[in-house]
Amino acid sequence: MPNDPYLDASVAWRIKSGILDLHEAGYRDIREAILSSGLATDVIGLISAGKEADVYLAGFNEGPIAIKVYRLYQTSHKGGRPIKLDQTGWLAAKEYEMTRQAWKGGVRVPTPARRAENMFSMRYLGDESGPAPRLNDIELDEPESFLTKVINGVEELAKAGVVHSDLSAYNILVYEHEPWFIDFSEALRVDRLGNAPWQRLQEASVALERGLNSLKGYFSKYGLEIDSKTAISRILRTLDKFGVLE
Ligand SMILES: Nc1ncnc2c1ncn2[C@@H]1O[C@H](COP(=O)(O)OP(=O)(O)OP(=O)(O)O)[C@@H](O)[C@H]1O
Ligand SMILES: [Mg+2]
Repeated sequence: MPNDPYLDASVAWRIKSGILDLHEAGYRDIREAILSSGLATDVIGLISAGKEADVYLAGFNEGPIAIKVYRLYQTSHKGGRPIKLDQTGWLAAKEYEMTRQAWKGGVRVPTPARRAENMFSMRYLGDESGPAPRLNDIELDEPESFLTKVINGVEELAKAGVVHSDLSAYNILVYEHEPWFIDFSEALRVDRLGNAPWQRLQEASVALERGLNSLKGYFSKYGLEIDSKTAISRILRTLDKFGVLE
């Protein structure tokens, strides 16, 4: 990963002197970046600080909006100096496009609004009391019908041309009693299979299995099973237009 060429002199100095503690633009800088990009007219606060990105609650004119901001710096696992990621704009663009593709296909995802550099805005799922909870953080009243909705959602996503790749009870929000899928940063497009359809479908199969296994773990606490084999083969059959998996 390229490193030094991207660290300009002032950044290197601030890191060395310890001012840039988290190797991150501070809240004020991010707020400024959001406002000057025109993604929002007001920044209200941080909803979530993740490994690769932070999510902010912001205002656009009178309404609330969520803004995901990819981190510009990441600390290397091997220690040493932080790496400036030159692909954060690309990551934001990818997630924005994947979310848009799913939204166009009618799947419950936060409607994406706009992208600017390493940030994009989308519909805020939640209300005045706070953001919608993650599936992982709540007890379901009717787990069986919710599970059916989740599996239907995964199938609808595939029909819309998207396989999530990082599906788990952390990336599903429960809003108005429905599952809403978020965090499409690692998603795969499966409507266009590219030059190697077999390979893309294999990747899709692995991603679906990983995601459904993760959900199995979550739903097992309600004593519910997921027949992932059947679901995956049903999904792959509809995607495999050229019969390459036959
Ligand atoms: N549109 C939204 N409305 C309300 N809350 C949201 C929205 N999008 C994300 N969030 C909140 O932000 C959290 C993090 O979002 P997301 O899963 O997209 O990124 P992440 O997992 O932090 O990224 P990373 O890959 O860096 O870990 C979610 O768990 C959810 O609580
Ligand atoms: Mg996530």
